[in-house]
Amino acid sequence: MISRVRIIGIGMGNPTHLTGEAVAALGTVDVFLVADKGERASDLVTARQAICDAVIPADRPYRLVEVPDPKRGPDAERDSAAYGDGVRDWHAARVATYAEVIESLGDAEQTVGFLVWGDPAFYDSTIRIVDALVARWATSGHYVDHDVIAGISAPQLLAARHRITLNRIGSPVHITTGRRLVEEYDPGLGDVVVMLDGHLACAALAERHPGLELFWGAYLGTPDELLVSGRLHDVIEQVRQVRAAARERHGWVMDTYLLRSP
Ligand SMILES: C[S@@+](CC[C@H](N)C(=O)[O-])C[C@H]1O[C@@H](n2cnc3c(N)ncnc32)[C@H](O)[C@@H]1O
Repeated sequence: MISRVRIIGIGMGNPTHLTGEAVAALGTVDVFLVADKGERASDLVTARQAICDAVIPADRPYRLVEVPDPKRGPDAERDSAAYGDGVRDWHAARVATYAEVIESLGDAEQTVGFLVWGDPAFYDSTIRIVDALVARWATSGHYVDHDVIAGISAPQLLAARHRITLNRIGSPVHITTGRRLVEEYDPGLGDVVVMLDGHLACAALAERHPGLELFWGAYLGTPDELLVSGRLHDVIEQVRQVRAAARERHGWVMDTYLLRSP
């Protein structure tokens, strides 16, 4: 049975985003578990393999094991309560799947690693899953150590690429999802970072808050990176078009943006 789990933030898939701490941690892992989420995400599996190839010394043996991800329900059609329940059920199914895979590893495979996109602290369930696994093993008397290595997250890279800070002097930053943005937006929140937005929810704010500024970025940190900034009202149509064309080209899009009130 394993003795250690390492949760390693890998930035936006580019080996140059790895911190020195992450590089050192990668070299200690015997088995990396990677969620296999179907075709679109196979790019993400490939990116993880490329990261391992780039920084783990050739004489350090390790395996990358793809773990089929349990099916997730139709989030877009759910209200908040059903969405929360759906995510909790999905996490429970993932915990069971990972436990099964980890418990079947050989005795020589003592350290398991999870390679987390960006930083594990932002909209990622790996820490919760590992907490549940560690608690489950502890109840049967098996203590498994675990740690978290920070990575560069999409909001950090968005700010760097636009050469801005995420907050104004001494002011707050609110981080939220596209699903919640329109309902909760209020200029009193300060600057707002939006992630997980499949539909450019900010478009609905353009009329109501004409002074809002938008700093938008997609495929951050990759050769396909796209950036647009300007007054939300003035640039939203451009962003919509750039985004739709990019989705057409790649089959998927990952974007993050900052809304700044005047
Ligand atoms: C499941 S969350 C993971 C966030 C990640 N843990 C982080 O630290 O950035 C996925 C969301 O992160 C953002 N994201 C991830 N990669 C991105 C990229 N390369 N460019 C822009 N946004 C990205 C998007 O908002 C996407 O919907």
